[in-house]
Amino acid sequence: MPRTRGRRMDNVLSRRSVLRGAVVLGGTAAAGPLLWQQPGYAATPPHGLHLTYGADPGSEMVVSWSTPESVSRPRLLLGDAGGSLSEVVAAESRPSPGLKTVQHHARLSGLDPNTSYSYQAVHDGAASERFGFSTARTGRPVRFTAFGDQGTSGGKVGPVLDAIERFQPDLHLHVGDLSYASGAGGLRVSEQIDSLYHPSVWETWLTDIERVAARVPWMPVLGNHEMEPTASDLGYESYFARFTPPATGVAHEAGATTWSMRVGNVGFVALDGNDASAEIPRNHGYLGGDQERWLDATLAELRADEYIDWIVAGFHHCAYCSSVRHGSDAGVRDRWTPLFDRYAVDVVINGHNHMYERTHPVRAGQVTTEAPKNAVIYPAEHGTTYLVSGLAEEDESLPDRSTGPVSGVTYYTGTDFGLRVPEATPWSAVVDELAPVVICVEASPPNWAGTTRMEIRSVDAATNTVVDALTLVRNR
Ligand SMILES: [Fe+2]
Ligand SMILES: [Fe+2]
Repeated sequence: MPRTRGRRMDNVLSRRSVLRGAVVLGGTAAAGPLLWQQPGYAATPPHGLHLTYGADPGSEMVVSWSTPESVSRPRLLLGDAGGSLSEVVAAESRPSPGLKTVQHHARLSGLDPNTSYSYQAVHDGAASERFGFSTARTGRPVRFTAFGDQGTSGGKVGPVLDAIERFQPDLHLHVGDLSYASGAGGLRVSEQIDSLYHPSVWETWLTDIERVAARVPWMPVLGNHEMEPTASDLGYESYFARFTPPATGVAHEAGATTWSMRVGNVGFVALDGNDASAEIPRNHGYLGGDQERWLDATLAELRADEYIDWIVAGFHHCAYCSSVRHGSDAGVRDRWTPLFDRYAVDVVINGHNHMYERTHPVRAGQVTTEAPKNAVIYPAEHGTTYLVSGLAEEDESLPDRSTGPVSGVTYYTGTDFGLRVPEATPWSAVVDELAPVVICVEASPPNWAGTTRMEIRSVDAATNTVVDALTLVRNR
């Protein structure tokens, strides 16, 4: 069912409102912790717990989880880290397309910044294990990890989650193609869709990610595989059944298909590449230009914000990638990179191509300086660095890169599923086509002289080795 931003906000239950005893749970007035009794654990417990920051990561968090069917009084128990879970927050429940499972979302607001909390998801008769999270902190480095194209393909899941846990990020930015419940990837060819669509894969995926996503906000971006063969034109029902991204983006009845937020001195912008892609046209243009207008205004705001040093944009389709599989997408490149140039966006993170790649800094389509592994660059002077990390297996033979950059392809609209145009790739700086690479980023607060650094370490999760490193420096 479509949800509007207004209705979403109506369901926000703040910690302070809980403390005032004003919350109604499943039709029963909740006066405080004494009304909750230890469940009997007879029913199947909640699973697939995952966090999403709210619009203000210092005070808002959404806790989401899944149950095998409808349950009585789904709710969240919340307390200070290590203390009693004395607060009760009702959950909003949503159906899962194609499944009996039900998705629950407890929206927390009025939390204290720089604070750790414990929580447990419960319904009558069952409870999850106890997890914890921290609200966004200020005055310390901001850490985040990123990749896309995850799926449930066994062997990589553990090492990738281990790599995130080792880095202990404030958030994980997932740049789309989440579960691959729909193997069709946005195609409309019905016979392919019927055989490739397995909604239960979402439940496997949620179970996979829980050990990290229940503690680290798992900030999602829409990929082409989130366009599922469901009832709506966009096909985003499964995504919005399971995720409640911040309602800070373009207003659309499907939900928050774009979003932005500030964490410390980093501004994040998440875009819907399906609206812009020249390669996969299913949702092309559905936002009617609103995404560019919103992006322009949002980047202007972030760049004018005295507390924001770094701007990171995440979306699925690649502006620059030398893979010959999906290559670069002229839809996102032509529509968005001029805005990245205008507002000196520091880093862009994409997925879609199942490999790792980083560019030299680029402005107006031109390399401004060479930036091999371990380089130091100044993005205010040099322009934007584009990274790709797609974890899934590549299914085409790999080009010989031993003698330098290979020829890539760019997709332009012109025929169904784009027109493939060969191009040179002088912007390609570092490539790893085999490893599952987790991008690990730390942005430091400004020092006494007003200098701040962003350290990027791209880690082969299978071997825990650094395959690429880049330092970005900005002066206030
Ligand atoms: Fe993918
Ligand atoms: Fe993709």
